[in-house]
Amino acid sequence: MTVSSAPGKVYLFGEHAVVYGEPAVPCAIERRARVDVEARADDHVRVRAADLSLDGFTVEYTGSTDGRPDVDVPRPLVDAAMGYVDAAVDQARDAADAPDAGFDIVVESDIPLGAGLGSSAAVVVAGIDAATRELGHELAPEELADRAFRAEYEVQDGQASRADTFCSAMGGAVRVEGDDCRAIETPSLPFVVGFDGGAGDTGELVAGVRRLREEYEFAADTVESIGDIVRRGEELLRAADPDAPPTEELLVELGRLMDFDHGLLEALGVSSRSLDAMVWAARDAGAHGAKLTGAGGGGCIVALDSTPGSRTALRFTPGCEDAFQAELATEGVRVGDAGDAKGDGPAGAAR
Ligand code: MEV
Repeated sequence: MTVSSAPGKVYLFGEHAVVYGEPAVPCAIERRARVDVEARADDHVRVRAADLSLDGFTVEYTGSTDGRPDVDVPRPLVDAAMGYVDAAVDQARDAADAPDAGFDIVVESDIPLGAGLGSSAAVVVAGIDAATRELGHELAPEELADRAFRAEYEVQDGQASRADTFCSAMGGAVRVEGDDCRAIETPSLPFVVGFDGGAGDTGELVAGVRRLREEYEFAADTVESIGDIVRRGEELLRAADPDAPPTEELLVELGRLMDFDHGLLEALGVSSRSLDAMVWAARDAGAHGAKLTGAGGGGCIVALDSTPGSRTALRFTPGCEDAFQAELATEGVRVGDAGDAKGDGPAGAAR
């Protein structure tokens, strides 16, 4: 049996603007998806998703997933989850030149589903890594990131960006601009995540920003200003000593930029009452800064706070379902499960 795990991510800066060619800086966080893979003697694939908020399920199939048996969870959720596992299996078979390989797969995750924390990317990255290793092949992280991107791209009908999969495979902070992805050496950042239990519709939110941008020049300027914030934030990160704890000055300045970024995203119409309430709760509790992360509309915020203050305040904030500290994950995909699936938030997998 082979086990791999891969982290989720938050956007320190730049979601939405990245769609229009501006840079973005996603950061991997110590919340992981773990995938156990065991090769089978036949070409079947059997998937068990444990600890899911959707109660877990088991599906066994041959070749394509068209003839899946009925399972005791909502069909759309199973279809979504299975799409990612299928795509990961296809990539592993292709990478190992083993088109008929069969697997028993167990997926576990402590990354909230569909909340903008890159849970599907983490499952795909860990799944491809574990399955190829199980077949005796080892992929370089860059190839793994590329294959995981192709898997997500296929499942999401061409809507995937490289940010989530690259960040999950490589770990740390990452700069993404179009297809160009590179790691940024940075000190460990004290992230706190607040989750409202919901999820926005990424497609609709992206379309809404596109319409605003087409209609109003100042909305287009707002998108460019987010790009300016990202460039400034990136400079600060690059100037910092990656081997030392972050200085107070760095945290204050990054926090200020996060606050700016959230304000601009709010102006672009992608925040929500619950996201704004969580952002303000974190700021009032002393966070250096706070912003929504991901597509918005619902889901998660990220705050910068080295104290327990923001997390505690978030847990008492109406509309916040869960809050947790999530250090920067300096390691991306890794073999084995030491230290995985830790944490105290809701569990979920595969989407
Ligand atoms: C969604 O997590 C991030 C967006 O920028 C969309 C994308 O980059 O594909 C809103």
